[in-house]
Amino acid sequence: MSELHAVAHKMVEKGKGILAADESTPTCTKRFEGIGTESTAESRNIYRNMLFTAEKIEKYISGVILFDETFHQKELSTGLTFPEYLTSKGILPGIKVDQGLEDFGSNEKVTKGLDGLSERLGKYYAMGARFAKWRAVITIGNNIPSDDCIIKNAEILAKYAQKCQQANLVPIVEPEVLMDGAHTVDESFDVTSRALNATFDQLVEHNVNLQGIVLKPNMILSGYECSYQANIEEVAEKTINCLSANVPIEIPGIAFLSGGQPDEHATLHLNEMNKYDSDWNLTFSFGRALQQTALKAWSGKPENLKLAQEVFIEKAKANSLASVAGL
Ligand code: 13P
Repeated sequence: MSELHAVAHKMVEKGKGILAADESTPTCTKRFEGIGTESTAESRNIYRNMLFTAEKIEKYISGVILFDETFHQKELSTGLTFPEYLTSKGILPGIKVDQGLEDFGSNEKVTKGLDGLSERLGKYYAMGARFAKWRAVITIGNNIPSDDCIIKNAEILAKYAQKCQQANLVPIVEPEVLMDGAHTVDESFDVTSRALNATFDQLVEHNVNLQGIVLKPNMILSGYECSYQANIEEVAEKTINCLSANVPIEIPGIAFLSGGQPDEHATLHLNEMNKYDSDWNLTFSFGRALQQTALKAWSGKPENLKLAQEVFIEKAKANSLASVAGL
């Protein structure tokens, strides 16, 4: 098996999932504001250190997605860089390589960061990264998303994925349809189908090796402001149906984003989906759903670090169980 295939399989190994700890500095600062903590390079280092050194993290977490700043920071007791430290625990280090969003037409967005990407990927690989992440964002609203926006995002995702594989990094391909808005669960199903379809068309067009990627999709939920909220079973059924109709069986695994839904829902949805006999390993690549409770427990105070680690591990364990329908 090639290195890419081996890494992709390891990322979605049964009973494990991915920790998305790649919040950009502005996003991390927003999260820290929520707990009344100043966001500095040092406080961000301490927070990420708390997560990555939690006892038995390697039992539940296969890989961690890092932001560039964290990628270069150090684990506080060993002095190893975080990629070195994670590797020493048998956890794959990953790196977020997109550079955020830019306008597409008057009310849509595409993701930027292709300029100079190959060079950056080579450097990250040399420093220990084994996979990368790129997030495309699709909004449901009045007459959007347009086909043009969906296709443009898919094309950019495919170019990114191609460059990653050339650099021996497994690309996490993330076409995220946002859960914000008043749309129905069926609208989410339709838009997600369009986005997945376009994404795989472009991946094939760009000769991306499908066995060497991990797909990171949204679950099919009712928009957060929709008056009817689909229940756990409906979300699971619709998400499985949408994936079955639009995702090739060759890909080794699917690792969902949580998208701001309540943590417990994200876990229960994953557990329910794993009761289906699907073609792929279905697991998590959660940011908020893994971190929210730990972040609150920490609240920026050194005396809370241990408690925060316990809370984080509890979440990691619950999602690990959910990834094998074990809840
Ligand atoms: P959430 O699980 O908080 O949506 O974050 C996952 C992620 O990496 C989004 O790009």
